[in-house]
Amino acid sequence: MLIHNISQLLTMKGGPQRGHDLGKLGLIEQGALLMRGENIEAVGTQDELLTKYPDEPRLDANGKVILPGFVDPHTHLVWAGDRAVEFEMRLEGRTYLEILAAGGGIISTVEATRSADYQTLFAQTRARAKTMFRYGTTTAEAKTGYGLECKSELDQLQILMDLDKEGPLEIVPTFLPAHAVAPEYKTNPDEYVRLICSKMLPAAREHWVKHAAGKPMPFVDVFCETGAFDLVQSRRIFETARDLGFPLKIHADEFDNLGGARLAAELGAASADHLVKTSLADIEALAASSTVAVALPCTPFGLGQSEYTPARQILDKGGLLALATDCNPGTAWCENMQFVIALACRALKLTPAQAIAASTINSAAAIQRADRIGSIEPGKQADLVFLSVDDYRHLGYRFGENLVNTVVKKGRIIPIL
Ligand code: NIG
Ligand code: FE
Repeated sequence: MLIHNISQLLTMKGGPQRGHDLGKLGLIEQGALLMRGENIEAVGTQDELLTKYPDEPRLDANGKVILPGFVDPHTHLVWAGDRAVEFEMRLEGRTYLEILAAGGGIISTVEATRSADYQTLFAQTRARAKTMFRYGTTTAEAKTGYGLECKSELDQLQILMDLDKEGPLEIVPTFLPAHAVAPEYKTNPDEYVRLICSKMLPAAREHWVKHAAGKPMPFVDVFCETGAFDLVQSRRIFETARDLGFPLKIHADEFDNLGGARLAAELGAASADHLVKTSLADIEALAASSTVAVALPCTPFGLGQSEYTPARQILDKGGLLALATDCNPGTAWCENMQFVIALACRALKLTPAQAIAASTINSAAAIQRADRIGSIEPGKQADLVFLSVDDYRHLGYRFGENLVNTVVKKGRIIPIL
């Protein structure tokens, strides 16, 4: 299938974009591309490709912008219920960490999620996956973390595997039993850390090896934060996970700087996420590593806070910057990467081009999939979005409306609007 009459084709070619290289769109005016099966076979101008492939079936893009499907590298997709009441409590003056310490927050979603049956949890999670896809996300990382006991954490992992199989949204799972201290271990958090290391991580590995048909191992993540896991506990969990063959991710410096970003760089984690309270020295340590810095602007926005990830500093120091929704019921119930881009342009001072690169090729790097997705290049997976506009800057400039007209996943064309 040859797609032609593309006003602007954003290829994002050339791999992840570090520091001030961020924002290289690889833009082709009046572009075209050829898909074969699940993959992209050729990319170029419309004149070139129409001449070279005269007999291919054609699809007229009618002057739309085409770019790689968004890759959302940080979501907590599996949960039951909602926390609308806590949203109101926060507006009345309680803080997120106060609510967590009082047994609400993550723990209240854990209770709702543990008591939901598989079908209910699957249906609620699937609804969010469908919304993500409608807004142009073709691959999402998604975490467990609302079970905090072996069986429900494994069930959540299985839901993510089942949803990925169902498609069209491709899901890259992360195992996160270290999202909060399980309520049963509230008075003895180290015992919960021991349980994670001795039982839960080995069980997740066994489950994956048995059921995932040779796919790359899921990530293991830790919420390294006051009121969750300290640096020593985080290191223990990560070292155990690494020895079991899991790639790593971390929630670091969302509210307090405990040194998580530096730990991520030291251990070669795929990404360090949040990074609101990160010091300049830690930004330098991250920038000197291959760990991707993932900014989650919906989280301060969702919490009504004015402090965001220092994205310009990360770029000044030569870091790899990506963007994600952090979709979760507590701080940021948002499935929409277009909104993340609009927010990043304002709160993180990125240009639309930078925010788009941070949501495609660099976010693919944050989940170690930049070899297959995140750009439109021959040999890569045909994951595309068509925008119903003729200038890519409408992403960022406009917000609150879905600009995605059509999504292509692994070569399959799915109309949205
Ligand atoms: O990324 N920080 C930890 N996890 C989520 C919040 C989860 C929740 O409140 O349910 C986050 O912000
Ligand atoms: Fe998160």
